[in-house]
Amino acid sequence: MSDVEHLKEQAGIAACRFVKDGMLLGLGTGSTVRHSIIEIARLITEEGMNLIGVPTSEDTRRLSEELGIPLLKIEDSGTLDLTIDGADEFNHNFDLIKGGGGALTREKVVALKSKSMVVVADHTKKVEVLGAFDLPVEVDSDLWEGAREGLSRICPGQVSLRIKGSEPFETDNHGFILDCSFGPTISDPTSLERAISDIPGVVEVGLFVGICDAVVVASSDGIEELIKSNGRA
Ligand code: A5P
Repeated sequence: MSDVEHLKEQAGIAACRFVKDGMLLGLGTGSTVRHSIIEIARLITEEGMNLIGVPTSEDTRRLSEELGIPLLKIEDSGTLDLTIDGADEFNHNFDLIKGGGGALTREKVVALKSKSMVVVADHTKKVEVLGAFDLPVEVDSDLWEGAREGLSRICPGQVSLRIKGSEPFETDNHGFILDCSFGPTISDPTSLERAISDIPGVVEVGLFVGICDAVVVASSDGIEELIKSNGRA
């Protein structure tokens, strides 16, 4: 296992200390939270916890089913107790860029239905100012060209249609992803999220503002828990 993979595993497992018996859990998407999902399955099978998951993507649904985690669909779940998910970047305000895996829309729906959100990450995801990671924006697959024009008027860098193989990458909701190169300039993510959401054809923006309550970060120095002072975790 590589060093980074080992850090991801440590963060993913450590975050499960927020999991309590009887919880309805949002299950995020990505290579870090994958380790949390494996740990949640262990809590069910070895420690007898009664837990139900709500997956944020088809990949997570498949993994959770393989591991035997009981699941509910997003639309069948009411309020969730806790969501654990990864992030592509986080800043000192606990604002996030997400969507590197293309699951941002369902990830945001699940996080917003949850009483709290804990992010799992390795230390490379921590930034002063968001935006070095290209901001993913999900757009309607029939309207993506107009959405790209609108985004190009806001974004100082490239706005690129995400490609998989030789075709546009298609999300679980049959949308496309536009990756926007803002560079580390996103100092007001609230205003930027609003401006992007107003562009016709935009389905969801990979900015998560005021949603995350804690970040469990792994580095070679060990695990650090960053808890938002006025947050819900
Ligand atoms: C999925 O769409 C993303 O939001 C992921 O949560 C994010 O990209 C983090 O993934 P990794 O843990 O694989 O870096």
